[in-house]
Amino acid sequence: MPSCKRTAGVVRVYADHEALSRAAAELFVRQANEAIKNRGRFSVALSGGHTPQRAYELLAGPPFNTQVDWGRAHVFWGDERCVPPDDPRSNARMAREKLLDHVPVPPANIHPIACADSAKNGARSYESLLRSFFDGCPKSFDLVFLGLGTDGHTASLFPGTPALLEKDRWVTEIYSEKEAIHRVTLTAPILNQALILAFITSGASKAGMLREVLNERHEPERFPARLIKPDCYGGKLYWLADKDSASLVET
Ligand code: 6PG
Repeated sequence: MPSCKRTAGVVRVYADHEALSRAAAELFVRQANEAIKNRGRFSVALSGGHTPQRAYELLAGPPFNTQVDWGRAHVFWGDERCVPPDDPRSNARMAREKLLDHVPVPPANIHPIACADSAKNGARSYESLLRSFFDGCPKSFDLVFLGLGTDGHTASLFPGTPALLEKDRWVTEIYSEKEAIHRVTLTAPILNQALILAFITSGASKAGMLREVLNERHEPERFPARLIKPDCYGGKLYWLADKDSASLVET
């Protein structure tokens, strides 16, 4: 549906990072319960970065930890650095430490991106895994959390990279010159099929970019977060932002 015009989505502004994290945890619980009631399982793609860590910590403790039927949750990631699973830069490690080690998600339902050996192979196997998991379903994830970089990237979709042009593949590899590291990332074609996609942004350093990505122009090669438009496919886009990151956004 290339002609569908991106809309800004729903912007929700919270007093501070704590309130923002609570709202993200509440959204997770709401979506989990809704999905399990309607489809018998809940599929979520987590984001890396610093911003969502507090939301994951909150989900790991009361009252949220008892509000989700974790046995029916399936956990995926939006992107990963190709490092060993116990490397401090691993997004899967962060989510395990903050959340997954503390709640009863069956290990078989936890699907980290494994690419330490080869980014290319890692991307291929994650794509097969996702295609078989979503077989026959009209939509993909029940919930995707995404972060926003100060350069406009989201997941590992960085400005000016070939991953932004991807129309068919759901998962691809990229090389980050800045970090000298390979990464694997979900692409717009699969992310946009999510039922709910929520960006979580916090801090004054994000204010300029948040204003930029929320305007109606497209230019995804400069501002990759603008590729995200689940509303074109029947899903919903939320921007959960704290006051500092939303200080330049008209609400
Ligand atoms: C990762 C990400 C990335 C992240 C943004 C925002 O690098 O692990 O998935 O897209 O979400 O860079 O990161 P912060 O929350 O740390 O600002």
